[in-house]
Amino acid sequence: MAIEIEQPRVGLSKVAVSKTHGEDSPYFAGWKAYDENPYHETSNQSGVIQMGLAENQVSVSTLQKKNMLKLIHVIVFLLFALFLVQVSFDLLEKYLEEHSEASSWGKGAPGFRENALFQDYHGLKSFRQAMANFMEQIRGGRAKFDPDRIVLTAGATAANELLTFILADPGDALLIPTPYYPGFDRDLRWRTSVNIVPIHCDSSNNFQITPEAMEAAYQSAESMNLKVRGILITNPSNPLGATIQRSALEQILDFAVNKNIHLVSDEIYSGSTFSSSEFISIAEILETRGYKDAERVHIVYSLSKDLGLPGFRVGTIYSYNDQVVTTARRMSSFTLISSQTQHLLACMLSNKEFSENYIKTNRERLSKRYDMIIKGLKKAGIECLKGNAGLFCWMNLSPLLEKPTRESELALWKVILNEVKLNISPGSSCHCSEPGWFRVCFANMSEQTLEIALERIHKFMEQRKRN
Ligand SMILES: Cc1ncc(COP(=O)(O)O)c(C=O)c1O
Repeated sequence: MAIEIEQPRVGLSKVAVSKTHGEDSPYFAGWKAYDENPYHETSNQSGVIQMGLAENQVSVSTLQKKNMLKLIHVIVFLLFALFLVQVSFDLLEKYLEEHSEASSWGKGAPGFRENALFQDYHGLKSFRQAMANFMEQIRGGRAKFDPDRIVLTAGATAANELLTFILADPGDALLIPTPYYPGFDRDLRWRTSVNIVPIHCDSSNNFQITPEAMEAAYQSAESMNLKVRGILITNPSNPLGATIQRSALEQILDFAVNKNIHLVSDEIYSGSTFSSSEFISIAEILETRGYKDAERVHIVYSLSKDLGLPGFRVGTIYSYNDQVVTTARRMSSFTLISSQTQHLLACMLSNKEFSENYIKTNRERLSKRYDMIIKGLKKAGIECLKGNAGLFCWMNLSPLLEKPTRESELALWKVILNEVKLNISPGSSCHCSEPGWFRVCFANMSEQTLEIALERIHKFMEQRKRN
């Protein structure tokens, strides 16, 4: 901090001093190493390449060719909405160049006034409708979403925490299949005082969730006297980069029904599946069951990944439970989305031509990038779990471990971070029970940077073979 202030010994709340935020894990430590020495194509070629950030920037490749247009675009943007200049993806940019009404108020000063004064926590009807349509489009029209069940939140982070507040009391437990997104430790536990009990999945069946693993986790929670209130799945999975099969989804829903608990399905990567038909939403399972048992099911979604807009903070809870919808809407007062952002995205997403093209092109680009990294890693002698979604792959470096332990995994991670200069996420930060797996992000950099990262891995593997 710039100004040094002597810190008096005054106490803070239990939440403030609690360590359950989990932000001291290697997952976040790797980001720090990157921040201190970030790779740059010309000015810092020996810097750390960030492969620990699940961000989608694959649409940026044609950007450089568009400098003139970008300049005009930036000027237009500066005139209307200063902070929106951060929108940088070419498909989104193209849309905005062609549709100035999205980033302006359309009706001039009265429009500005209308939006500036808007504060209804239901959100703009046009935006909820557009989100519902977009979620349907992503699922190839196989599931229907009612805009009145859409609760808007500032990202999936807020949506997951908010749902936890509603479904569980302090001291209760949620079951989560491992490996899972490290941010859940913060989002679900920290301020809610809810516990996470892992459902251990392993490579013997490609980390799929089984009824036996769910039952074992349930029993483990009971043995700790924890009341299980729900199960939370991520489909497609972060960090696996793979979708959950229909049969597993059926079993998970049956399990939730038998135990009389909730089922939260975080589908934040649903539009980042390489092919639409490979993703089955829990919404489709409910639809085929005639919405029986739907009142215990809640879907979390956000535009941070599929549209690559984490800075806009746009998320949603879609619940089939009326009381959850009402309560979540009340609670969403703490975490609303600016009406300006809602207006822009309502225009953008309700343009079918744009959204269809975006979803299709984004899938193709991700798939191409995935093939590139998988082939590159294979050439270096590294195997990955077969993936079909997401912004990352799940890489198996267990043959390189000195011992099959978490300590050996972290020792290897440190070498890769400090010597190979790649920030990847160790599986243990995702609570993976098998040491040696790592999550590698591939969509937050240019193809050239990815090539350099692959060259570094290749060299590293060659060196290991020689030693
Ligand atoms: C599975 C999962 N859920 C939630 C989030 C948080 O997303 P948001 O940026 O919308 O808060 C992430 C971000 O990486 C994620 O991977």
